Amino acid sequence: MKMTPKVKKLFNEQINKEYYSAYLYLAMSNWLNENDWPGAANWMYVQYKEEIVHAEGFVRYLMMRGEQVDLMPIEMPKKEWNSVLETFEEALAHEKFVTDSIDKMAIAAEEDGDRAARLFLDWYILEQVEEEVNGNDNVMFWKKAGDHPGATLSLDRQYAARTFEADEIPYLED
Ligand SMILES: [Fe+2]
Ligand SMILES: [Fe+2]
Repeated sequence: MKMTPKVKKLFNEQINKEYYSAYLYLAMSNWLNENDWPGAANWMYVQYKEEIVHAEGFVRYLMMRGEQVDLMPIEMPKKEWNSVLETFEEALAHEKFVTDSIDKMAIAAEEDGDRAARLFLDWYILEQVEEEVNGNDNVMFWKKAGDHPGATLSLDRQYAARTFEADEIPYLED
């Protein structure tokens, strides 16, 4: 079964949103580095790499279905924030936007009877639950640390420990 134009369009748009997410987190990582938060910068850099994997998952899915992939221009993210807390607050708000977008894809796949697309989206739906849990934790931790130099320094050190491990997205061909 070919993908319906509606579902295919949403998948192509989601590829762009995931690449934009990567850009946004890379921009945040750069700003954090410039402003002497190497740990938080590392955390955002790992997130940037995760987003590339999310985007590639959708690219590979469309290829597997024999559909053309539209690699649309990626919007330029902003490059200045006021605080480390603000970067994490905006990251959380962005993940909520992505969750909403993926939910809409699932609803469209259901409406158009595309069971394969709907099944493929399961991993992403659960990934978004994880992203929002992490995002909420981040905001909570940085809020608690507040302006305490000791607290923020030790928190930043903890964020330095995050390492990248590429997620295995189910159902994709090798
Ligand atoms: Fe993502
Ligand atoms: Fe994740």
